[in-house]
Amino acid sequence: MRRSISIIGAGAVGASTARALAERNYADILLVDVVENLPQGVALDISQCGPIVGFDAQVRGSNRYEDIEGSDLVLVTAGLPRKPGMSRDDLVRVNAEIIREVMGHVRTLCPSSLVLIMTNPLDAMAYLAMKETGFEPRRVIGQAGVLDSARFRTFIAAELGVSVKDVTALVLGGHGDQMVPLPGFTTVNGVPLPQLMDPATIDRLVRRTRDGGAEVVNLLGRSAYYAPAAAFLDMVDSILWDERRLLGASVYLSGEYGQRDVYLGVPVVLGSGGVERIVEFDLGDEDGAALQKSADAVRELLRVMGF
Ligand code: NAI
Ligand code: 2OP
Repeated sequence: MRRSISIIGAGAVGASTARALAERNYADILLVDVVENLPQGVALDISQCGPIVGFDAQVRGSNRYEDIEGSDLVLVTAGLPRKPGMSRDDLVRVNAEIIREVMGHVRTLCPSSLVLIMTNPLDAMAYLAMKETGFEPRRVIGQAGVLDSARFRTFIAAELGVSVKDVTALVLGGHGDQMVPLPGFTTVNGVPLPQLMDPATIDRLVRRTRDGGAEVVNLLGRSAYYAPAAAFLDMVDSILWDERRLLGASVYLSGEYGQRDVYLGVPVVLGSGGVERIVEFDLGDEDGAALQKSADAVRELLRVMGF
C-alpha cells in the first residue's frame, strides 16, 4: 500500500515538493492550503504529468485540514516566504501563528505521524511545532542542513571544476546568517578541502553559502523552491525507505553539542522512526564557538515567541 503524505502549503515549495514526490510514485499526496482552489489546481496540474512521466500516485488538493487525517508524514511549507531585504528572522511572529494553527490540526488528526518543517525561521518553527504537537522530538524535524550543504557543495564543485557528486560537506547550526559550514570536514572524494583550496577561497565560499538564500531572493525576487524541495525529498526518502542516511537536519538537542532545549542543525541518522540518532563529533574550538553563536541566535527567536 502506498504511504500517505500531506503537504501543508501549496505555494512554491509545497508544489515543487508535491511534483517531485509524485514522480517517486511511492506515496499518495494531499496538498492543503488556505487559498481557495490553489491546492486543487496544483494537484490537478501535477496529476496530469502522470500519464506522461509514468506515475499513478494520487495527488489531491484541499482547503480542509480534516482531509489530512491519518497521514504518515506531514510536510509543512505553510507560511510567508522571505521577500527581498527581509531577514528570515523578520518572519518569526507571523509564521509562528500559522505553525500554531497547523500543528493543532496535526496533533489531533495525525497523532502517529512524522512531521518535517520547512517554514522559516526554520529552527524556531521546528521547536514551536514540537511544542504545539507534543510529539516526541524525534518525530518533528526541520529541513535546513541538506539545502545549506547542497549550496556549499555546488559552490565548491564549480570552483574546483569537479562534479558535485564527489563533494560531501556538512553545514550545521541554525538556518540563518549564523549557520556553520564546516570546511575542515568537507572532502572531494575523500580529499580534504583545505588541501585543494586556499583559505581565502574557502572563506569566500563559506560566506556565499551563509548568504545562499538571500542570493536567490535577490535574483529571483522570491525565495528558492527547487533546491528546498529536493532537500525535502532526500529526507522523505531516508525516512520512508528507512535508509538511515546521515544528513544535516534541525533537531531537538538535549545536551548534544553542549546545547539543551533548542532546535539546531546537526548530523543525524534519519530512518523510519524519524531521528534515529544524533551523531556527535568534536567540532574543535572555532567551529564549536560558531555553533554556540548560532544557537544563541535561535534562542533569541524562541524568546521572541515567548519560550
Ligand atoms: P509561498 O508563499 O509560495 O507558499 C506558502 C503557502 O502557504 C501559500 O500558498 C499560503 O497560502 C500557504 N499558507 C499560509 N498559511 C497557511 C495555513 N494556515 N495553512 C495552510 N497553508 C497556508 O512560500 P514558499 O516559497 O513555498 O515558502 C514557504 C515557507 O518555506 C516560507 O516560510 C519560506 O521562508 C520557507 N523556506 C524555507 C527553506 C528552508 O530551507 N528551511 C527553503 C525555502 C523556503
Ligand atoms: C532559503 O535558504 C529562504 O530559507 C530559504 O532559500
